[in-house]
Amino acid sequence: MTIHMNLGENSYDIIVRRGLLSDAGEHLNLDRRVLVVTDTGVPARYAQTVAEQCRQGVICTVEQGEGSKSLEGFAKLHETMLKHGFSRKDCVVAVGGGVVGDLSGFTASTYMRGIDFYNIPTTLLSQIDSSIGGKTAINFGGVKNIVGSFYQPRKVLIDPSLTETLPPRQLSSGLAEAVKMALTSDRELFELFEEEDIGENLDEIIVRSLNIKKSVVEKDEKETGLRKILNFGHTVGHGIEVSEDGRLYHGECVALGMIPMCGESVRPRLMAVLRKCGLYREINYDWDRIAQAAFHDKKAVGDSVSVTVVHEVGSFEIKTVPSVEVIELAKSILG
Ligand code: GLY
Repeated sequence: MTIHMNLGENSYDIIVRRGLLSDAGEHLNLDRRVLVVTDTGVPARYAQTVAEQCRQGVICTVEQGEGSKSLEGFAKLHETMLKHGFSRKDCVVAVGGGVVGDLSGFTASTYMRGIDFYNIPTTLLSQIDSSIGGKTAINFGGVKNIVGSFYQPRKVLIDPSLTETLPPRQLSSGLAEAVKMALTSDRELFELFEEEDIGENLDEIIVRSLNIKKSVVEKDEKETGLRKILNFGHTVGHGIEVSEDGRLYHGECVALGMIPMCGESVRPRLMAVLRKCGLYREINYDWDRIAQAAFHDKKAVGDSVSVTVVHEVGSFEIKTVPSVEVIELAKSILG
């Protein structure tokens, strides 16, 4: 199935099909120099399968983890392209999760002022969310995603079978982003989470999530308003993620961050879905650290913050509220 992202001259196709990795060359222009970027956590055969389909494929493997979204990671990719004589006509292909996609996309956006970028996401989280929409960035000065660009890929290939090698916790973490989109925008998808077997419906979950994201990004590519709903649960979630020092996965933190931002009738339904997805974690909250991390990031505006709240499944409200109120609310609900 093909989903078309309509963004004027930056439009592109998102192709979703099991087995797509082996046919990548039929969909992407790989008849040139191609930097295939992956990380040490991704099965090496994924990047090799792509490189074998390129006229001149160069694999660059960075360390798994957020640490690679750095100036050093960025320099490593540029150095590799320079060394292999990449020109403006060559391209970058990301084969990995969000870290690989963000780093590769940002590097592609700056090499010779921008070369073609393709994304082949291999984690559920990146298939559902981060591989489309054009956000690319690295971390700098201790702040996540502070140096980056909006740079749309030329095409995105989503092969749901690639998620079969993911550890269960990482798969669950990806589901959090789909639950997020269901809560704000798709009541039927939320009911699917409540009523159906999740594993058996993974492809449908991916496609429905992509369609929500497509429609949001088409209306607000540069996040001036509506796109903020894709950050639902992320303000408190980000605070929890930093305060937990890597013990919890991103999706697990977003899952916890969504709970206080839901109305009372939605909250028990969300909790049941989170438990079903293996996304609910009991933790000891360090609210001082959570507040510090949540509000010293780019989503904070002075003493107020823009948050999305869900009073009814499938709809949302974007509000600007004092940061302190968000933390007090989260504290009273999460404990
Ligand atoms: N993952 C949030 C966004 O793409 O805007």
